[in-house]
Amino acid sequence: MKLGIIGATGHMGLAITKSISNNKSFSHSDIMLSNASGNFSVLSEFPNLKSTTDNNVLLDFSDVIILACRPSDVSQLNLDFENKLIISVLAGATIESLIQALSSDHIVRAMPNLAAEFQVSFTPYLLSDNCNDSDKEIAERILNAIGESHCVSTEEEFNKITAISGAGPGYFAFILDQFIEASIEQGIDRETAKKACIQTFYGCGELFKHGCDSPAEVVTNMTRYKGVTAMGVEQLRLIPIKDIFSKVIQAAFKKANSNMQR
Ligand SMILES: NC(=O)c1ccc[n+]([C@@H]2O[C@H](COP(=O)([O-])OP(=O)(O)OC[C@H]3O[C@@H](n4cnc5c(N)ncnc54)[C@H](OP(=O)(O)O)[C@@H]3O)[C@@H](O)[C@H]2O)c1
Repeated sequence: MKLGIIGATGHMGLAITKSISNNKSFSHSDIMLSNASGNFSVLSEFPNLKSTTDNNVLLDFSDVIILACRPSDVSQLNLDFENKLIISVLAGATIESLIQALSSDHIVRAMPNLAAEFQVSFTPYLLSDNCNDSDKEIAERILNAIGESHCVSTEEEFNKITAISGAGPGYFAFILDQFIEASIEQGIDRETAKKACIQTFYGCGELFKHGCDSPAEVVTNMTRYKGVTAMGVEQLRLIPIKDIFSKVIQAAFKKANSNMQR
């Protein structure tokens, strides 16, 4: 399979390019990158990737294309994708709008987050009606190379998960920042507070990834005795955190819906 990545050196395009290039199941000579500027500094890390600023060259080369430019760049592409399989990560661009804009009805709409660079994105994806089993298999192979993919069946479901996992790194970064600031307020120096909070956050993620699959169970176990954690969690229980997260997700979902180009 020959893979083309349009917009390969932008924030998201580069995260995907690096992740896929680090995955041993993809041959570098089967990957072509394109961008607008011709600046491909990623080639110093992966010299066997092909590159071009001419998207027609990329189109001729590729069986599958990842579209990672900005939505506003799409009208300037002026390409006939000839029913090639396209995996779009464009925020707001629905399957219907992509079919119209790209002259292909083999479209996968995907929403990775920036953790794609470290192969840990959670990526919902939606297939156009004409996608077959082989298209789905290819999409999963590519999206699983940047983390964990999850197939959804409607644009609505796609937007709901986008409000959770697409925007999620922003929510957790916000919480982490507050955790750090609160630790500093207790007299811990900034450097130590930052390290302690980030490592605890990361360690907790690893815990759930590799062992425990029930956060509620962990809370129960850790608060069974009226120890240090129980005292902290008691304070958390005073705040309606679930209601707050409902509002956060609803607001992001509303925005994702209103951004849709049909
Ligand atoms: N950033 C995120 O966290 C995130 C998350 C999910 C989805 N997305 C989606 O990912 C897409 C890219 O976002 P971004 O933040 O990565 O934007 P970005 O950093 O501005 O990257 C845009 C890329 O498109 C390239 N480009 C522009 N015109 C082109 C053309 N005619 N042919 C080929 N390449 C072209 C640019 O080339 P140069 O490098 O040469 O300028 C650049 O590599 C957007 O559609 C966005 O909705 C982003």
